[in-house]
Formats: sequence, C-alpha cells, structure tokens
Amino acid sequence: MYAFGVDYYPEHWPEERWPIDARLMAEAGVNIVRLAEFAWSRLEPQEGRFDFDWLDRAIEGLVAQGIRVILGTPTASPPPWLMEAHPDLYRVDDQGRRLTFGNRREYCPNHPLYHDYTRAIVTALAEHYAEHPHVVGWQIDNEFGDHCYCPVCRRAFQDWLRHRYAGLAALNAAWGTIFWSHVYTEWAQIPVPAATGGSPNPGLALDFARFASDSYVAYQQFQIDILRRHTARQFITHNLMGFKYGKLNYYDLARSLDLVSWDNYPRTQWSFTAELDPSGPALAAATMYGLKGQPFWVMEQQAGPGGWELVSAMPRPGELRLWAYQQIAHGADGLVFFRWRTARYGTEQYWHGLLEHDARPGRRYEEVARLGAELRRAGEKIPESRVEAPVAMLLSYDSRFAFQIQPNNPGYSYAEHFHALYRAFHERNVAVAVVDATADLSSYRLVLAPPLYVLPAAVAANLESYVRAGGTLVCFFRSGVKDAANAVVNQPLPGLLAELCGVEVTSYDSLPPGVENGLEWAVPELANAAPGRARAWADILTPGSAEIVARYTQDYYAGQPAITRNRYGSGSAVYIGTIGDAATHATLVDWLIGQTGVTAPLTAPAGVEITVRNHASGRLLFVLNHTALSQDVQLDGPYHNLLGEPIRVEGTLTLAPRDVWILEQTD
Ligand code: GLA
Ligand code: ZN
Repeated sequence: MYAFGVDYYPEHWPEERWPIDARLMAEAGVNIVRLAEFAWSRLEPQEGRFDFDWLDRAIEGLVAQGIRVILGTPTASPPPWLMEAHPDLYRVDDQGRRLTFGNRREYCPNHPLYHDYTRAIVTALAEHYAEHPHVVGWQIDNEFGDHCYCPVCRRAFQDWLRHRYAGLAALNAAWGTIFWSHVYTEWAQIPVPAATGGSPNPGLALDFARFASDSYVAYQQFQIDILRRHTARQFITHNLMGFKYGKLNYYDLARSLDLVSWDNYPRTQWSFTAELDPSGPALAAATMYGLKGQPFWVMEQQAGPGGWELVSAMPRPGELRLWAYQQIAHGADGLVFFRWRTARYGTEQYWHGLLEHDARPGRRYEEVARLGAELRRAGEKIPESRVEAPVAMLLSYDSRFAFQIQPNNPGYSYAEHFHALYRAFHERNVAVAVVDATADLSSYRLVLAPPLYVLPAAVAANLESYVRAGGTLVCFFRSGVKDAANAVVNQPLPGLLAELCGVEVTSYDSLPPGVENGLEWAVPELANAAPGRARAWADILTPGSAEIVARYTQDYYAGQPAITRNRYGSGSAVYIGTIGDAATHATLVDWLIGQTGVTAPLTAPAGVEITVRNHASGRLLFVLNHTALSQDVQLDGPYHNLLGEPIRVEGTLTLAPRDVWILEQTD
C-alpha cells in the first residue's frame, strides 16, 4: 500500500469534528496521518503531568477508518511553562540577542536542561506508544536548523574543538590566530562567531558551522536513543528541507534515520512568482534521495496557498496532483499533505490545508482524493522501484558553509550555481543524482563537482580514482582553495586538483555586478556553438597537460583560457573557471552529454518532465506536463498505463495540461 496521508492537528479542532475528519480522510484514500508534532502544551500541560487521553482518542478515531499514525516528538514547540521558568533555554541569535517567547524552535539544542525536559516528554510518549500497533513511526522535532550562540553553546563549542584539535597550539596554527592577535591561551577564551563587529576568523567560523550542525545531529541522536530503548519496530524520521536549506549537513543528519523525509512547498509567500521552475522540487528530491541512496517520503506536501503574512497564489487545477507525482517520480515512497484543514488561529492562518477554514472540502480536496484513488490502484508498483542516474552532482556542505562565510563574489551563490547546472540537465530530462563528495562514483558516466572550495585529501583522491578508471569529471573555479581548517592552501590552485585537471590558475578576477566577459569556444565540437558569457568569477588558466576548451574574449586577459579538458588515466577532467549564463550552461551540458554518451529516457517538449524508476521486472516511466497547454510525447515502444484505464499505450501520448501519466514497461 502506498503511504498516502495528511498532517493533522486534532488539538486545533473540537472533538465532535474528529470523526467527520477521519471519514473524509478515508474517503480521500488517506492511510497515514502525522500527529502531535507541535502539541507539547497539550501532552504535558504542566511539568511532569502527562495527558495522552485526547491523543489516544484521536488515534482511535483514525484507526477506525483504517488509518495508521506517525507521531511527532513535540520538541520544536516548547510550552511557555517551560521556557518562561528557564529563560536561559532561549536561543541566542547571531547578533547576540536572546530570543523571547512567541514563535517556535526558540530553544538551545545544546542546553542540558532542555535535554532533561526532552527526555521526559519523549520517554513518556515512547512508553505510551511504542507498543501501539497502529503507530508505525516517529518524526523527531521539526525542521532542525537555527544556530544558537548562547553561553552553553559556546562552552559546547570549546569542547567540540578539544576533540577536533590535538591541542590549543594545533588550533592556533590551523586557524592562523596570529592574525589580529587572536592567539588563544585557554580553550575558554574561544568565542562563538556572533556580534564580533565584523567578519570572524574563517577557520573559527567554519568550525562553528560544523559544530552547529553537529549539535542538531547530536540532539536528534539523543531522541533516537530514547525512542530506540522502547521500540525496534517503528521507523524514525525527521522532516528536512530539501536542497535549498544549507545550514545543516544533511548527510550527517540522515545517517541514523531509518528514512529521510522532507517538506515540499513549490509555491509559497517566499517564492511568490508567476512562473514555477519544476527543476527546484526535482533538485530537492534528488538531494533527499541521495542522502541515503534510498527512496524518501514527503512529510509535508503542499495542499494549498502557503503564507503567513501574505496569501500566495492558489495552486492551479492539477498542480497539487502534478507536484505530488513529481516527487513520486523522483523517489518518494510516501506522501503526506500539509495540512488537513486550514488553521483559524496562529501564525499559519494562511498556510492552507486541503479543507478551507470552515472545513468545506472543495476543489483541492477533490484533486487529492483523485490522487488517493489512483495510488490505491497503482501504488503497489512504486515502493519497490529505484531511481537511477547516469550523472552525479557532488554536494559538499563543508564548501557550502565556507561560501556562506565568504561568498567571494556578491553575484555568486553556491546553491544557485548548483541549481543552475542541475537545471540544464533537468531541462534535457537527463537524470542527475546528488551525492556526497566521498560517495562511490563508479556507476556514473559524468560527475560534476560544483566548487569544492574546501577540499579534503580524501575527496581529491576519490575524484582522482574516478577519472583514472574512465570517468568524466567537471571541476569549477574556487576548487581546492581551502584546507579543512578553512585556511588557503600553500600551492597553486586548484590545489589538490591541479594535476588531475592538468591546469593551474595563474590569477583570477572577481567581476562586479553587471560586468561580463565573453567566451569563445576552442574545440571542434563547439565550433558552431554561440559564444558564451562569463560572469562573477574569472579564473585565468595556464594549461599544463590540458587542452583549451574556451578562451575569454575581453579585458586584459582576452585570449587566455577559461575552460580546459585534461585526459587523465582512462578518463578526463574538465575545469570550468567561470560562471556561465543559462545559454552557456546549456552549451556546456550538451557538450558533456555528447562526450559521455549520457541520454534522456525520451525526448520531450519543453516543460514536460520525464523520469524513470526501475524495479525487478521492468521500469516505470513518469511523464509530467508542467505546462498549461496540452503536449505530445513520442513513446519509444509499447507501455502499460498504470493510472486510470489499464490500457496499452504506444506512439504519440497526448498529455492534457498539467497531467501526469505513469507507464510501465515490462521485460
Ligand atoms: C514547515 C513546517 C510546518 C509549517 C510549514 C509552513 O514545513 O514543518 O510546520 O510551518 O513549514 O510554514
Ligand atoms: Zn545555545
């Protein structure tokens, strides 16, 4: 059975309403519901007094409709009785300001007292629900991430550093604390990078970012350990935030989870644009899949306009279903809509659910009910299938953190550049896996390594052996610049990648906003391509063994190399010393695809997304029309229709606007 559900807050509604909600859910095909995630003040109304009766009754009503339950641990929303009694539990922000009550996630993840209160509520919940046959899983907390700079965190940071460095002398050397007289003579002198009056030491700042990430990994582990003492059967997950969120190392956070889940909101008050870019949720899904190399769940799938102060645009007819299938197409094995009914109170009054404020089931409910019915019929096929990709992109949280500290150029964002490259593949329907830089790369024909600004030797060695064995690697500007302590390496750039790429960075130019350079292509395959554009950053290259792929056309370095390719072992390493515009990325991606023989499953008109999931005896082809027009796709053979009528489909497939087909091809 495909896990299909909603996030539900029974504590927001009168109890007389619960049976009606449960029935409407069942009628929509819901078989799983997430509960209790922000309900601490109802579960423990006073310190040490627990009340699970209401939750028992809510679960009972759902179970009566054949629905299973995921419980959230409620630690993202500590109640006032707790926080106001212990004001030092409030987080301190990066300006050194202590938060006050009134939102959520205002706690310090390292505070031992918060751990005590967490232990109490999570233990009580686990004791009560570990054996419950219909409680199938747990979600820990909610969307971890915000950094804390409080005195408790400062001491925890100092302890973290003691474990990382052989001694204070080693730390002083690694960070170069002689600069501006920062030489520490006691661990206790080491600050957190808040309110320093300017930019902190880059070594300290990167270590703090790692520490802050580790703090949530440890706090999550603290909860996992409590739950695991009571239950082996129930799965444990956390709801992550896709690709865009860059403050936590999601590889670390995912490691001890049974299942990765994430929250997918394509259109909200913070992405208030007319056009939607379908590559965004696709990249997020690929990132979530890559954390464990396994299918994931969407724990919050958009159910309506998403807004707090603003009301974001209404999802168009078909969009809720389309966005849901897009996630399934990229590996979602569970789909839970946020939220069931639109809240009448609180910050999220305009974060719409499937039902309106007044509980009317309308168009959005009907659309999701249709999806539920389809998944009831077709869902069996999907969970056993895997997503495979011929191309990988390496995601380095170390480099991402280091670029947050020093973006190098105001026009450069690691995440946006990464996304722009991904988009070029997505537009061609070439599947891309997003994996850690230490992952086994041997199954990929093409690997892109967006700037590995911080480059550990182990990663350089991984890339070298991949290319030696025949792989095609693409490296970028600002790679190999920093060592693990965020100090600049004492060798020509790209540092540990110089030999592999057969190139040296002679010099570089950081381009002001609006200033561009041109690129002229120097390899025969690109003789007819339109000239490229170079933005934000320009490495000026001196090739060693590498051949020149493109040269700058302007400024004092006109004629000098910008892009090179080096044959190395049985493979090759391309070095791209600048950032292109979309057309330049397109040219480069076509060139790379051509060289490596990577292909899309089918060719399709713009705005039609195609993905494949493989299972033991065949494959599923997902065809998603992201446009408001009908579109034709030429199929490459006979398929069996998995949604709707079980017909045979071949030749031209005509998709209605925003429609989705899932086609099965058996061996
Ligand atoms: C996140 C949270 C939800 C809700 C939505 C909408 O994804 O997990 O609790 O706040 O955002 O803002
Ligand atoms: Zn703290």
